[in-house]
Amino acid sequence: MIIAQITDLHVRPPGRLAYERVDTNAMLRAAVAALMKLERRPDVVLASGDLTDCGLLEEYETLRELLAPLSIPVYLVPGNHDRRENMRAIFYADGYLPADGAFLHYVIDDQPVRLIGLDTVIPGEGYGLMCPQRLAWLEEQLAREPGEPTVIFMHHPPFLTGLTDMDRINCRGGDQMADIVARFPNVERVLCGHHHRPIQTRWAGTLASVAPSTAHQVVLDLQPDHSPTMFNLEPPAYQLHVWSPYTGLVSHTAYVNDFAGPYPFVLDPDYPGHQQAEAIPAEAAE
Ligand SMILES: [Fe+2]
Ligand SMILES: [Fe+2]
Repeated sequence: MIIAQITDLHVRPPGRLAYERVDTNAMLRAAVAALMKLERRPDVVLASGDLTDCGLLEEYETLRELLAPLSIPVYLVPGNHDRRENMRAIFYADGYLPADGAFLHYVIDDQPVRLIGLDTVIPGEGYGLMCPQRLAWLEEQLAREPGEPTVIFMHHPPFLTGLTDMDRINCRGGDQMADIVARFPNVERVLCGHHHRPIQTRWAGTLASVAPSTAHQVVLDLQPDHSPTMFNLEPPAYQLHVWSPYTGLVSHTAYVNDFAGPYPFVLDPDYPGHQQAEAIPAEAAE
């Protein structure tokens, strides 16, 4: 099974740029085209928040059009740039978002890996929160299938990254969430967005990560007292999380743009590693 993760799409109304500079719609179109071109197609796509830039109905309508070429299921969770009511209005018909209730949480359990989408949004705030109600919901879902390989995806990272200005608006309640997740070794990953960079850490006994954006990236600035977050136009990217019972979940970062190559590895006669490599077990490719 391949889980594609796209994040921080920041879709705008047609013809409008994000931050007066970034053509996020064109960049998402390119990302969707890149996913469609993969020789081994993903089974599902997760979009981990900041789906739109301002949460406008028109932006969700545009998002729907931009995602339409994907003929595979796409599961969305909101970020701080989203508005639940507008997101629900445009995407409820897809059948996985809850009809009512305060949060856009859900579980997808018709795949080899169970997918838990978490809504960390606090309307009007940049930071996110796992409040007691959300923690209880997550614990209940995890306790229901304690042996199933499971991926949690959410917008705000519940861990610190060293990007201090972004960390001020991460997911609060992370320690309480970690206490719960640590009790379920079947949680293969906690997949996040929000920080617009590829980041990994060991967290709550599992691996937690942030995927790069399909649009603009956050400048890598690890100074402890660094001033306001800036963005740049490093290569847009997405991640492929590949799962088999044999390997567990293995994560790859892939770039949207085309680059020179591919080229064959023409080995120099002086290369010291000419021995025949051992075959990979067939189960690894399932
Ligand atoms: Fe974002
Ligand atoms: Fe965000």
